[in-house]
Amino acid sequence: MGKFKILIVEDAQLIAVHLQKILQNANYEVIGRAANYEEAIAICKKSTPDLALMDIMIDGDKDGIETAIELKEKYNLPIIYLTALTDGSTIERAKKTNPYGYIMKPFQEEQVVTFLEMAIHKYTVENKLRESEEKFKAAVGSISDALLFVEEDFTVSYLNKAAEAISGQSLTEVEGKPLVDVFKFSDFETGNEIPNIWKWFNVKDNEQEFKSLYLTQPNGKKVPIGDGTINAVFDEKKKLKGVVLTFKNITKRLENESMEKQLEKTKLAAIIEGQEMERARISREIHDGLGQTLNAIKLNISTFFNGADKERAIKDLQNLIGEAILETGRISENLLPSKLKDFDISTCLLSLSNQKYGDLSVSFESTEVKHDRIGINKKINLYRITQEAISNAAKHANAKNLNIQLRSSAKSVILTIEDDGVGFDVSTRNNKVLEGHHGLQNIEDRVNIMDGVFEIDSKNKLGTVLIIEVPYDKKLAVA
Ligand SMILES: Nc1ncnc2c1ncn2[C@@H]1O[C@H](COP(=O)(O)OP(=O)(O)O)[C@@H](O)[C@H]1O
Ligand SMILES: [Mg+2]
Repeated sequence: MGKFKILIVEDAQLIAVHLQKILQNANYEVIGRAANYEEAIAICKKSTPDLALMDIMIDGDKDGIETAIELKEKYNLPIIYLTALTDGSTIERAKKTNPYGYIMKPFQEEQVVTFLEMAIHKYTVENKLRESEEKFKAAVGSISDALLFVEEDFTVSYLNKAAEAISGQSLTEVEGKPLVDVFKFSDFETGNEIPNIWKWFNVKDNEQEFKSLYLTQPNGKKVPIGDGTINAVFDEKKKLKGVVLTFKNITKRLENESMEKQLEKTKLAAIIEGQEMERARISREIHDGLGQTLNAIKLNISTFFNGADKERAIKDLQNLIGEAILETGRISENLLPSKLKDFDISTCLLSLSNQKYGDLSVSFESTEVKHDRIGINKKINLYRITQEAISNAAKHANAKNLNIQLRSSAKSVILTIEDDGVGFDVSTRNNKVLEGHHGLQNIEDRVNIMDGVFEIDSKNKLGTVLIIEVPYDKKLAVA
């Protein structure tokens, strides 16, 4: 910091010059001497002083006090008055400008210097205090948690911005009012108003917490709040000064939680529904196919005993039993494709890719996959996943080509399925599940069961790619 800069406002030339000498001797910089209001302003415009020594009785339209008021307003300038006057009304007027003091005329050199030193010290300390207070206010004001200060007598003395927003009231509306009158809390479960929140303030230890509550705004809207804390504030003499409350608006959190719950439920329902549909399908197949054939066999056996043409009847029976065997094979194949038991996953996917899918052409590539480390469960899952992905591309994508790749990394097998169709907005997936579309969810569930990673990337008009990475099984025992 350079020298402290002082402006002298004094219309008596001799006194002003004398004062300037004193100040310069004491190593202050005098940036100017003004004899009236206009001159003072002109000097300040050129270079701002740190302080003004102000004679109360000066020439011109404005006296020293009026000039001081202007300088304070325009330049936030601290003032020390020089005066020979001590009449009550002038002193009263001067007081209102919050001066750092009065130097009585006539003055002594040492007196002026000591006085200035004290005033400057006071000014510096106050400035620091104000700065740090502003910093704290800004910090507290801008934190995202709601914060309110309640005085010892339970009146509200401060709300930060977040607290204003949550409570629907501004600081000016509630300042000085009893907390119970302006903050209506109610129980989270019952919704009943909590009448006696005084109890909260039995703050024996420094900190307490409170669970979720509702805070009712003046317009009647109930805002859920949570993560609340209550801290007693003590001064240096350990005397209770008041209590600080903080809490958060948990509306979003509750919404997310309830959405997640809903989604969980739907997913579970989807799995159960899927299982039930599969059972119904198998039951129908057995009833309509195998069941009918067995009925026919039964009928033919009675014909065999009653009829004449035994040879013919045996032939018919043979045929029917052959059909029943075929039917059984078909059902069992549908339940678990036999190739999955007999061949490795690459072969099974290749065979899947060779089936007909309307206009969609499906290709398959695989490289160096460790087949001895893909057990039957993983095989089934990868197969079903691929079936669903092909069916989606055929149904939704309007794609020409679909490419399936099976690759290997050190510890896992990677299945990539890519189509060149219309793509879709992946961020809507959860909504789709809620609307009853479960295919992709089933894929994800299967991947999760295998401790794998599922990624889906889809761009409008640029197609869709699914990447599924599944850790290898431990080396399977050689049969
Ligand atoms: N390959 C794809 N190309 C374009 N859209 C797709 C593709 N796969 C899935 N979708 C979109 O995602 C939705 C959800 O798919 P899915 O969960 O399999 O249910 P579903 O096939 O029963 O509609 C589909 O309705 C479709 O809008
Ligand atoms: Mg589907």
